[in-house]
Amino acid sequence: MNITFASLLEKALQLVSSEKSDQTVLFEITTLLEQEVAHYNWVGFYTLDKPNAMLRLGPFSGLPTEHTEIPVGKGVCGQVALSLKPKIVQDVRKEDNYIACSLDVKSEIVIPILKNGEFVAEIDIDSNTPSPFTADDEQFLVALCDALANRF
Ligand code: SME
Repeated sequence: MNITFASLLEKALQLVSSEKSDQTVLFEITTLLEQEVAHYNWVGFYTLDKPNAMLRLGPFSGLPTEHTEIPVGKGVCGQVALSLKPKIVQDVRKEDNYIACSLDVKSEIVIPILKNGEFVAEIDIDSNTPSPFTADDEQFLVALCDALANRF
């Protein structure tokens, strides 16, 4: 992980272990990431509503989206809810199973959050930059999502 992500992870982990409420921590993490990483333009959490096989939008930073609920299996977010694996889409125009939020978005990364091995939520990040994501992004976000599991 590069130094920028390592220091950002440290800041984020301080928030995760703070006394603040779960919703406050999640919201402040979205804000931190959206403000500190130039290629993160929209950062949000979707949580699983298991009985209805639906992802529901939780705290986010960036422009409001009409996609406040996404069926499991639909779009990049819905695919990750099934695969339980991180997914990077460097060019959203090349992704068939994609739900567009804004025409400005060029790429997307989604990381699942597993609690005791079960999918509970995910972090979704949209970028207005084409092909911006590297292994550093993934490593940073996986470490963050591991630490966040207890907040769900
Ligand atoms: N692009 C996502 C939908 C959610 S928005 O990015 C906020 C998808 O394809 O699942």
